[in-house]
Amino acid sequence: MQKVLTIQGGKPLKGTVHVRGAKNLVPKAMVAALLGDGPSVLRNVPEIKDVEVVTSLLTLHGVQVTKDPVSGDLTLDPSGAKTASAREIDAHAGDSRIPILLCGPLMHTIGEAFIPDLGGCRIGDRPIDFHLDALRQFGAVVDKVDGGISISARKGLRGTKLELEYPSVGATEQVLLTAVKADGITELKNAAVEPEILDLIAILQKMGALITVQTDRVIRIEGVKRLGGFNHRALPDRNEGASWASAALATKGDIYVQGADQQDLTSFLNTYRKIGGDFEVDDDGIRFFHPGGKLNPLVVETDVHPGFMTDWQQPLVVALTQSEGVSIVHETVYENRFGFTDALVRMGATIQLHRECLGAVPCRFGQRNFLHSAVITGPSKLHGVDFVIPDLRGGFSHIIAALAAEGVSNASGIDIISRGYEHFMDKLQGLGADVTLS
Ligand code: EPU
Repeated sequence: MQKVLTIQGGKPLKGTVHVRGAKNLVPKAMVAALLGDGPSVLRNVPEIKDVEVVTSLLTLHGVQVTKDPVSGDLTLDPSGAKTASAREIDAHAGDSRIPILLCGPLMHTIGEAFIPDLGGCRIGDRPIDFHLDALRQFGAVVDKVDGGISISARKGLRGTKLELEYPSVGATEQVLLTAVKADGITELKNAAVEPEILDLIAILQKMGALITVQTDRVIRIEGVKRLGGFNHRALPDRNEGASWASAALATKGDIYVQGADQQDLTSFLNTYRKIGGDFEVDDDGIRFFHPGGKLNPLVVETDVHPGFMTDWQQPLVVALTQSEGVSIVHETVYENRFGFTDALVRMGATIQLHRECLGAVPCRFGQRNFLHSAVITGPSKLHGVDFVIPDLRGGFSHIIAALAAEGVSNASGIDIISRGYEHFMDKLQGLGADVTLS
């Protein structure tokens, strides 16, 4: 039986949450451990579903993953790496998109990889063409097989010159994890430079890789013959930090996000301030709060780093339903990331979706008939409804909208939240939310 989260709204969220390592780095750092010829230690690891999925995938491939029972630190020993069966890999991959990143490390380690058809949040088509094109350019042979793709590099992989059509996070990571041990030099143009990617580069450098991040999104990698293990503390999850910040604003609350790092949140903090949210930064985290009074409407466009992250958009839209006037959000990273607004409209929000680019700069989706711009008119009095959690950030948004609303909401499909939010129920209850799981 699926569990249902019952939310009694109308109470500000107040208190402290502790944010640990980033969901969008930690699983990739675990994959990087496969490239070493000795054990690696990863610290600040959150207890989230994506970490469990990668742990089982690595274990299937012969990597010994052990968790320190007190600190939660992971030790990953790849010395017994081996081929795993496609059926087993498929059974363990779950909804994660991480398996595609095992390609390069597995080809370097055992010469082949099987990657099951990928899951992940349904926020767009999410193709893997950039990944496969890059792998082919390194010399890999990629075959579509039943249930996934089979990849091999019996003759090894060689460095290459690549240019991404769009600065994809995953494709940039794919290139890094493959190029570090490929023969010769790789130059990647139009690379993504998100903080999580720079942290992955720091990890690879600790292992012995030679990587230079040049100006204008160019990354140059000189392949090396061998890499050792690493010892690294994962950077904090800025997307979780921004989610709680929006929750504070939407519920007229006050949340101290312990572990949040100002430098990775610069564009979020600017936006937060423009809406009328307040924050105080100290050495250990950031306090986000609603200072009272009215919230302002806003025009915001999502973008790759250093722009306003797409993952911040969904929780922020809930806060914008409480701003006085008309706000516009133009989503330029995923073509289909506004499905979650249906439930907000049922709760009483006024949100219209448009196919046109309602932003300063036309994006890739403008001519392609996708509802990728949202016009939000506020302030709206929200009321509780029943809903099904659609995806990670959309689900978080529904829950904070329900907490900001009058009355009771019932949410099903709550398990999705544990993919990226550690100890979610404990955190909500610690902030004084009136929630019960049954
Ligand atoms: N794209 C392609 N072809 C490809 C790869 C990507 O067309 O081969 C397109 C995508 O369809 C999308 C755009 O490029 O329109 C950007 O996708 P990207 O590859 O950057 O995303 P990702 O690596 O799949 C990661 C995060 C996402 C986050 C994005 C953007 C992980 C596990 N996921 O996804 O996180 O939104 O980067 O920063 O790191 C989330 O945390 O909720 C989440 C969805």
